[in-house]
Amino acid sequence: MMTFAVKRGDLIQEKADLLILNAFEGYEKFGGATADVDKALAGYLLKVAKEDQFKGKLGETVVVRVAMGIKAKRVMLVGLGKKEDFCEESVREATAVSANQADKLGIKTVVSVLHGAGNGKLSAKVAGKAMVEGARLANYVFDGYKKQKATKHVQSFTVATNDARAVVQVKAGIEMGELNAKATILARDLVNTPSGHMQPATLVDVAKKIAKESKGAITVKVYDQTALKKMGAGGILGISQGSDHPPVMVHLRFAPRGAKKHVSLVGKAVTFDSGGLSIKPAEAMYTMKCDMAGSAAVLGAFSVLAQEKPKVIVDGIFGACENLPSGKAIRPGDVVTTLNGKTIEVLHTDAEGRVTLADTLAYAARLKPDAIIDLATLTGACMVALGEEISGAMSNNKKLVAKVLASAETAGEKMWELPLEKNYKKEIKSEVADYRNIAGRWGGALTAGLLLEEFVEGLPWVHLDIAGPAFAEKPLNAYTQRGGSGAGVRMLLELLRNF
Ligand code: BES
Ligand code: ZN
Ligand code: ZN
Repeated sequence: MMTFAVKRGDLIQEKADLLILNAFEGYEKFGGATADVDKALAGYLLKVAKEDQFKGKLGETVVVRVAMGIKAKRVMLVGLGKKEDFCEESVREATAVSANQADKLGIKTVVSVLHGAGNGKLSAKVAGKAMVEGARLANYVFDGYKKQKATKHVQSFTVATNDARAVVQVKAGIEMGELNAKATILARDLVNTPSGHMQPATLVDVAKKIAKESKGAITVKVYDQTALKKMGAGGILGISQGSDHPPVMVHLRFAPRGAKKHVSLVGKAVTFDSGGLSIKPAEAMYTMKCDMAGSAAVLGAFSVLAQEKPKVIVDGIFGACENLPSGKAIRPGDVVTTLNGKTIEVLHTDAEGRVTLADTLAYAARLKPDAIIDLATLTGACMVALGEEISGAMSNNKKLVAKVLASAETAGEKMWELPLEKNYKKEIKSEVADYRNIAGRWGGALTAGLLLEEFVEGLPWVHLDIAGPAFAEKPLNAYTQRGGSGAGVRMLLELLRNF
């Protein structure tokens, strides 16, 4: 695996296959360490950059071989974009682009300047965190099912700075960024694993492994089918009827001593969504292994909580099941009784997520946390509204949703608030039960959110519809390839750090 580190050093003296430097868009002269190196190269870099039309746009690069003046074999200039737009995400993107390019060039050792530290807008800690996230996530491949594994060339990525104080800060940032990356990568792996190998029982194994590795910091409770029946979790039981794989509910808990706050994280965990009897067309099923991405985000976050140690009690809850048609499957028109006694008429078996979440949200509400956050690949309608890159956020609490959106921004995740419009409640009324699981044609993301709201007992709650970004059908950015993206993971960790 690639090592990522920081050291005190002079970039001119660093031996490496590649030295990475930067410039803002519209630069006329270089600044900081880039200017120092260029001086050692007698102005060669600036000359090449200008001649080669390098503008400094975010993610733009130019690579030159150098024979004297510095110890590195090549120099790459990477653009940081406009100074006024510069933020943590620019660092992630610029680092990811340069790491991808270094790999393509077959480079083994990379030394890089600390992006944006001299600029004053970012702390050295944040810059270090964003750099390791960008490099690690860009480096991710899911090749477990390939005979020919991907070859990764870059073996070491070292940030060098001659500021001793910055070294300490960058180290702390790298530690945090490594945890963010590790958690994101677990979520990606879980989503990318085909449903045939990612059944409800598999998610239980993952949860148990996380608890075991936490050495007592995390406990896990597992409710099997019998326990779910006893409990009255009719939503999860109903949706899973058509599958030969029994459903299960998992409750992870991280409860550090002295914690004053309590947050419950709930994830949708449909291991495959065929639509059930209201079956999806063939192409719509291609990516439906992603329908457990909410639980993958929760598991990803939990996998680093014991090291991250937020001062918060955290629950991780998901009801895992598979949505398949069969002679035993739930029928359109069947009514299920959920955990809190409310009934749902399941008119459309492909709107299964909200039915399973009814039980898990009701379970979370019983724990009386200060906040409930659910993550769910819930509706195609949310993708119609916000596209493939942006998650929809719906909430009954202004303060909480503001915290979630701010954490997302810091984490480089795109989220946008959608309204929980009370007037649309009539859309989810049923003639035969308390609610129906499908509404009219319009505002499908909102009516799904409104149904979920009925199960949180008025507690502060944010629902995140991650249907768009959870599975990238094309690369979302330089560090998010096609496939499972780990959507929600870094936002959650950021939120817990500052809760
Ligand atoms: N899992 C899907 C939503 C989804 C769609 C996630 C595309 C990721 C990508 C969900 O269970 C579903 O099928 N929703 C239906 C609801 C409809 C029947 C009311 C949808 O959005 O079409
Ligand atoms: Zn569905
Ligand atoms: Zn679904």
